[in-house]
Amino acid sequence: MNDRKTSADIGVFGLGTMGSALALNLADHGFKVAVSNKEADWIEPFVQNAGKLEAQFIGAADLADFVSAISRPRSILFMIPSGAPMDAMIDAILPHLEPGDTIIDGGNADFHDTRRRSAAIEKTGCHFVGMGVSGGADGARHGPSLMVGGTKESWQQLRPMVEAIAAKFEGDPCVDHLGPDGAGHFVKTVHNGIEYADMQIIAEVYGILRDADGQTAQDIGSLFESWQTGPLSSYLIEVSAAALQTVDAETGRPLVDVIFDQAGQKGTGRWTLIEALKVGQSASTIEAAVGARGWSSEKASRLIAEPLLASDAQATLVADPADLEYALLAARIISHAQGFRILAAASDEFAWDLDMARISEIWRAGCIIRSALLDDFANAFRTDLPAGELILAPAIRDLLDGSIGALRRVVASAVLSGVAVPALSASLAWYDTIRRGRGTANLIQAQRDFFGSHGFARLDQDGQHHGDWKAIATN
Ligand code: 6PG
Repeated sequence: MNDRKTSADIGVFGLGTMGSALALNLADHGFKVAVSNKEADWIEPFVQNAGKLEAQFIGAADLADFVSAISRPRSILFMIPSGAPMDAMIDAILPHLEPGDTIIDGGNADFHDTRRRSAAIEKTGCHFVGMGVSGGADGARHGPSLMVGGTKESWQQLRPMVEAIAAKFEGDPCVDHLGPDGAGHFVKTVHNGIEYADMQIIAEVYGILRDADGQTAQDIGSLFESWQTGPLSSYLIEVSAAALQTVDAETGRPLVDVIFDQAGQKGTGRWTLIEALKVGQSASTIEAAVGARGWSSEKASRLIAEPLLASDAQATLVADPADLEYALLAARIISHAQGFRILAAASDEFAWDLDMARISEIWRAGCIIRSALLDDFANAFRTDLPAGELILAPAIRDLLDGSIGALRRVVASAVLSGVAVPALSASLAWYDTIRRGRGTANLIQAQRDFFGSHGFARLDQDGQHHGDWKAIATN
């Protein structure tokens, strides 16, 4: 181990995949890093395996030694499972800290927990930062997108380090201080909701090509790869193209063909929905994506249902590659628009003053949802948006004008041929709802007043009104 007398710039506790990668990234950028871990026997091998970066690390198994190895005011990044383990570590480390020190939670935490922890820790004179980290292990090692919450003081303390290690988009670090307490973790949660939606719409297009058009994984992978040079250019299309073209060494078959069709989830997509509903929003594309993961787990029921429920297909599916590409683009725009609406509503609710343009900018590189579109969104948010709506920005309207027809054809064709496209169709329904000035809720109001005397507003008069409804016979 290294000379403990030389203070570290930051401490990293938790040497799992993400913690190790971030510690190495910090060391790569010249920072001295104290490292520790619950399983103490991970520490020494981590430091020894750091190669030429070994001298940048101070390993410490004991919490007091770990804390005292870090220069004051201390920055201590926890990369551990969210929930109870984080609360336990806060309790354990707080007695060793001094006012001005900052605890950073880099996990996918529930922002309500982050708000609670911030309030409690700030009473001690220390700071608590909830920091969303996106980009997986590779991103953490070579440049993640970082969504930072917490106090302005803690941001000043962290800024040089996080700006150094973050991904860069044309030189601009993909990190910023987004707001107080839970703002960073909330933005990361919504990022993940959009991530779920994007993964699902890509999977639905894969399903159309596989099940209705009979294409091989290799062919679909090549098609996705060709989309990387167009408006869909993104990390998730790149990953999907590469995954589809990967061959299983054991069977020689496409690896995706031997993977069980049950998706896992750790909860961030679901949190996005729960919070969306709480702030009066409906994120239908994200909801469809979370729901589809849930249904995917019901494999046994689906297998029983397959021969029992007739397909009753009304038409043969048309899988035009250009339409599929643009259908994906339209649905991607819509799922992001839904995500940004949730952010705007939560920003009002929690007085965070979130900057949507800046959020778009720090998502342009490093994170899982990075795509060519994020730059368009950032530019759109910097213009005067009609009604504050992303989809009403002239540049975004142009993109939708050029793609919504394709989404309509793909959804119509899939529906008629019996192929499930829950997220694509939810996107289209959302678009058709948002663009209609006169909806159908007048009947909902009539129904509510009919059975519950809830009242309604009239188009032609002020105030609350009730209908003189005709009685209906009840049993
Ligand atoms: C990221 C990802 C990451 C997330 C995984 C798995 O931005 O790097 O969002 O934080 O943990 O994608 O999430 P699920 O297990 O919920 O799919």
